[in-house]
Amino acid sequence: MITIDHVSKTYASKQGEHHALKDISLTIESGDIFGILGSSGAGKSTLVRCINLLERPSSGRILIDGNDITNYRGAQLKELRQSIGMIFQNFSLFQQRTVLENITFPLELTGCPKAKRETRAKELLDVVGLADLSARYPAQLSGGQQQRVAIARALANRAKIMLCDEATSALDTKTTVAILDLLKTINREFGVTQVLITHALTVAESACNKIAVIDDGRIVEQGATHSVFAHPQSNALHELIENSRSVISAQGVSIVEQGA
Ligand SMILES: Nc1ncnc2c1ncn2[C@@H]1O[C@H](COP(=O)(O)OP(=O)(O)OP(=O)(O)O)[C@@H](O)[C@H]1O
Ligand SMILES: [Mg+2]
Repeated sequence: MITIDHVSKTYASKQGEHHALKDISLTIESGDIFGILGSSGAGKSTLVRCINLLERPSSGRILIDGNDITNYRGAQLKELRQSIGMIFQNFSLFQQRTVLENITFPLELTGCPKAKRETRAKELLDVVGLADLSARYPAQLSGGQQQRVAIARALANRAKIMLCDEATSALDTKTTVAILDLLKTINREFGVTQVLITHALTVAESACNKIAVIDDGRIVEQGATHSVFAHPQSNALHELIENSRSVISAQGVSIVEQGA
């Protein structure tokens, strides 16, 4: 379980202070696929980066399974980061390493022997459906395939939490559906809790059991996905719904319908 307890984050810059997160409290249960939904600049990435301390909260606490991680440093911080996988919109693969070497990389950092690393990487290649492509380089893969490699790499150390920051935003609709299906499979079969940031309503709707809507650094509503979407309360969610309707009518199809 991830407990975000009255977390605020203020960035200081030459232009002054920016309050990116304002007193956020949120509980993400183990096994959730928890969506963080909000428009650009709302604070989604900042919030999720606080969970693995890529950003440190300015105030408040973050607990993982009851342990207060907020002030972790050194070996504890390293161990925390190893237990949390993260994937990004731009895949962030090592271009000079093959698919297999990308996946073994986090295991090298933990001193895992070569033969074990490769066995684990091959298991993961099977999970993500890329067993045939282990010797390729990232530039020789499609976007969807690159994201599969990133997912495998995120899981190499048997992470129990995955943070996905706009993981499908660079992908077309069909590939988005396939990647969301893979994340759901990983959630179900390996019990990996997923925190999924998105500004796309359809992604939250089709993948997440719970969502929180963030607007200007505050959580403006949260709950089970179906009930939040059945009775949207906040202006932020109404706006996202409006935007999404215009995109869907422009495309003539919704990802939810395609994903069936
Ligand atoms: N390192 C930083 N220094 C100063 N301000 C920052 C920093 N990182 C983010 N911000 C500001 O904090 C606010 C929240 O940013 P954040 O990246 O969390 O938004 P987001 O919801 O992820 O947006 P997007 O959907 O565009 O990725 C923005 O106004 C942003 O400009
Ligand atoms: Mg972001």
